[in-house]
Amino acid sequence: MPFRSILVTGGAGFIGSNFVRMVAREHPKTVITVLDALTYAGNLENIADLVDSGSVRFIKGDIREPAAVRVAMDNAEVVFNFAAETHVDRSIEEAASFIETDIQGTYNLLNFARELKVKRYVQISTDEVYGSSAGKDFDETSPLRPGNPYSASKCGGDLMCLAFANTYRLPLVITRSSNNFGPYQHVEKFIPLFITNAMEGKDLPLYGDGLHERDWIFVEDNCRAILAVAEKGNDGEVYNIAVGKSQPNLRVAELILKHVGKTNSRIVFIEDRKGHDRAYRLAAEKVRVLGWAPRTEFAPAMEETVRWYVDNRGWWERVKSGAFREYYEKQYKDKLAKGKTK
Ligand code: NAD
Ligand code: DAU
Repeated sequence: MPFRSILVTGGAGFIGSNFVRMVAREHPKTVITVLDALTYAGNLENIADLVDSGSVRFIKGDIREPAAVRVAMDNAEVVFNFAAETHVDRSIEEAASFIETDIQGTYNLLNFARELKVKRYVQISTDEVYGSSAGKDFDETSPLRPGNPYSASKCGGDLMCLAFANTYRLPLVITRSSNNFGPYQHVEKFIPLFITNAMEGKDLPLYGDGLHERDWIFVEDNCRAILAVAEKGNDGEVYNIAVGKSQPNLRVAELILKHVGKTNSRIVFIEDRKGHDRAYRLAAEKVRVLGWAPRTEFAPAMEETVRWYVDNRGWWERVKSGAFREYYEKQYKDKLAKGKTK
């Protein structure tokens, strides 16, 4: 990787931690700083080994606070913004924190990226900004039609990015990927919830008729695409990232049960999510022109993912019970109190 030093916001979350782990493993000379507020979704355990070994400098801080952003961005050549409120169901209950983090937080990052003249700013966005697709693949020029408060907030962040690219010529790129799955994903999300519920002998709650479709991408494939866009993407451009193999939630649930060794009788159909987007379908040729292609097929990646949750039961049990916070606070108490671990 040609980058000397990077700032990864949200690097203690699901995709951010996988990204940090990949960069640390494959590009050990790159200096990595993580800025993360450690919300309910952030888990220092996800990168604790890298923080302990000194491969990652960790700063506990909030992208909504300009002072924290200023400190973290010092010396960063490239900024990757993964930090966001991300769970659709939570945004339906309460959207204020989504607006604050996903829009205001992005604005703070853009301001300092401009002031400090970062070489590149990478905004991690989502296929949800285009809204539900009725049989049509959305490309990067498709209109934004968010279907829930989360995706509306992500649209706000994206639009602010595009405004900064146009107004101030800030060298930035935006990635919009489909649904990720893999290790370290929070158990509130569909795949980890269903794997862990199946392991615990609990019901698997499918929304509506279970025929809503998602185009699942293994998290490592998305992380590689993000790197490719950061390195080779054109300033001011958006890049969709997807595999192009949508499938209904019911089929995914059945596959999970098969891997965990349980019967389909555990699936229960429950009341649908409000405003539930039926499907997301992306045209993603543009990122392939940069040389990226997914390396992983869905079925083996799902098998690997189930194995990870089986092998890391302590991790998800601590997340489910909330004990993970106590776990890392005990380990990092003094350092976190100073707002920094190193
Ligand atoms: P996540 O919820 O697992 O992690 C989010 C991280 O951001 C957490 O570590 C959290 O502590 C941190 N964070 C939240 N608010 C913050 C704030 N104000 N300041 C600093 N840190 C804060 O999310 P994820 O699934 O890893 O998603 C990462 C990014 O990728 C998000 O921008 C999301 O919109 C986008 N995305 C996710 C998916 C997916 O399938 N998970 C798909 C497409 C795009
Ligand atoms: O498409 C990208 C988006 O994918 C990201 O931008 C979001 O941050 C991420 O949370 C995800 O959003 P979804 O709403 O698609 O993911 P979730 O895991 O919440 O749900 C996936 C599908 O499974 C969706 O159709 C709703 C359904 N579902 C989900 C849960 C939690 C259920 O049927 N039952 C459940 O209990």
